[in-house]
Amino acid sequence: MGRCVLVTGGAGYVGSHTVLQLLLEGFTAVVVDNLDNSSEFAVQRVAQLAGEFGKNLTFHRIDIRDIEALEKVFSTTKFDAVIHFAGLKAVGESVQKPLLYYKNNIIGTIALLEVMAAYGCKKLVFSSSATVYGWPKDLPCTEESPLCAMNPYGQTKLMIEEICHDIHRADSDWKIMLLRYFNPVGAHSSGHIGEDPRGIPNNLMPLIQQVSVGRRPTLAVFGNDYSTKDGTGVRDYIHVVDLADGHIAALHKFFEDPNIGCEVYNLGTGNGTSVLEMVAAFEKASGKKIPLVMAGRRPGDAEILYACTAKAEKELNWKAKYSIEEMCRDQWNWASKNPWGYGLPDPAN
Ligand code: NAD
Ligand code: WQD
Repeated sequence: MGRCVLVTGGAGYVGSHTVLQLLLEGFTAVVVDNLDNSSEFAVQRVAQLAGEFGKNLTFHRIDIRDIEALEKVFSTTKFDAVIHFAGLKAVGESVQKPLLYYKNNIIGTIALLEVMAAYGCKKLVFSSSATVYGWPKDLPCTEESPLCAMNPYGQTKLMIEEICHDIHRADSDWKIMLLRYFNPVGAHSSGHIGEDPRGIPNNLMPLIQQVSVGRRPTLAVFGNDYSTKDGTGVRDYIHVVDLADGHIAALHKFFEDPNIGCEVYNLGTGNGTSVLEMVAAFEKASGKKIPLVMAGRRPGDAEILYACTAKAEKELNWKAKYSIEEMCRDQWNWASKNPWGYGLPDPAN
C-alpha cells in the first residue's frame, strides 16, 4: 500500500481534484469534510474516476473542530502527511461574519495541529492564498513580497501561516508547506468533478459558468477603469489539476528532502489575464455568449495580481502546464455535463 494522506476539506473543489491525483499516484487518501460547502457525490465520483485506485479512498463526514472525531480517525490510521484544505473561503461573507471565519478556520486548524502532534504526524501541506499579498505594489508577487490581509478571510490565512512558522520554530520535527494558490479555475478533463459552490458564487469563473448554462442572466464586470490592458482586473488563473499536481510535488519534497522546514511556495502560472480576456476565452470554448454589465469596482479588489513561480519550479520541480484555453475548455465540459453541479445526477452514470 502507498503512503497514506489525510485530506481535510477533500470533498471541496481543490480537495476533490487533489484526492484524485493522489489516488492515481498510488497514495491512500482519507478525506474528512463536514460538507458545509461541498457534496459527498464529489467524493464518490473521485473514487469512480480513480478506477482500481478508488478502493484506496475513505470518507468521514467530520468537522475538524471536533477533536474527538479527529482523534478517532488518527487512532485507526497512521498518516504520513496531512493536506489541509478545510476552511471557509468567501471574502465578502468573512467581512459580514468575521467570528464565523476565525472560529472555523483558526480553531479548526489548531484542533487539527493538536491532534496531528498527539499522534506524531508532523508533515502538513496548507492551502494558503495569494490573498495574503493584498494589493501588491511590485509584480510579480514573490514569496518575499510584503504581506497584508485585506479582510478577515485573508487574516485567517496569514494567522495560520504564522502559527505554522511558530510550531516549526518550537519543534523542528514539523515539516510544513504553505502553498499560496493564485486563482484556481477549470475542472478535471472528464467533466465529472468541478467547482460547485453553495449559494451565490463569489468568484469569476463559477459566475461565468452559471451565466453560460442559463442560471444567471448576466455577468457583472467589477471595474473597467483599472490601469490594465483593457481596464478590467488582472489575475493569475491556474488550472485546478495543475494546482492538484502542485500538492503531489509538495508531498514528494517532504519524503525526498530531509532539510524541509516551514516553506512557502506560490502556486500560479506567472501569467496575468484580464476579466474580459477570460470571458472571451470562455465564450470561444463554449460557443455561448456571456452578456456583460459594467459595474463599479468591488471594494478591496487588487488591480493586478500574478505570481512569480520560480521558487516552486526550482524547489518542487513543478510547473503549471495548462493554458487559459484548456482551463475554459474543461470548465465548460464540467458545466455542460453538470449545469446544476452535483445537485442532479451525473448524466454519465
Ligand atoms: P471549497 O469550499 O470547495 O472546499 C473547502 C472544503 O472544506 C469544503 O468541502 C467544506 O465543506 C470543507 N470545510 C470547511 N470547514 C470545515 C470544517 N470546519 N470541517 C471540515 N470540513 C470543512 O474550497 P476550495 O476552493 O476547494 O478551497 C480549498 C482551500 O483552498 C480553502 O482553504 C481555501 O481557503 C483555499 N484557497 C482557495 C482558493 C480558491 O479560489 N478556490 C484560492 C486560494 C486558497
Ligand atoms: C477575479 C477577477 C474581479 C466576479 C478571490 C479571493 C482570493 C482567492 C481567490 C481564496 C477580479 C473580477 C469577479 C464578478 C468580476 N480565494 N470579477 N465579476 O478576487 O482574485 O480572489 O478568489 O483564497 O482570496 O479574494 O477572485 O474570482 O473573485 O475575481 O468582474 O462577478 O474577476 O473583480 O478582477 P479574486 P475572483
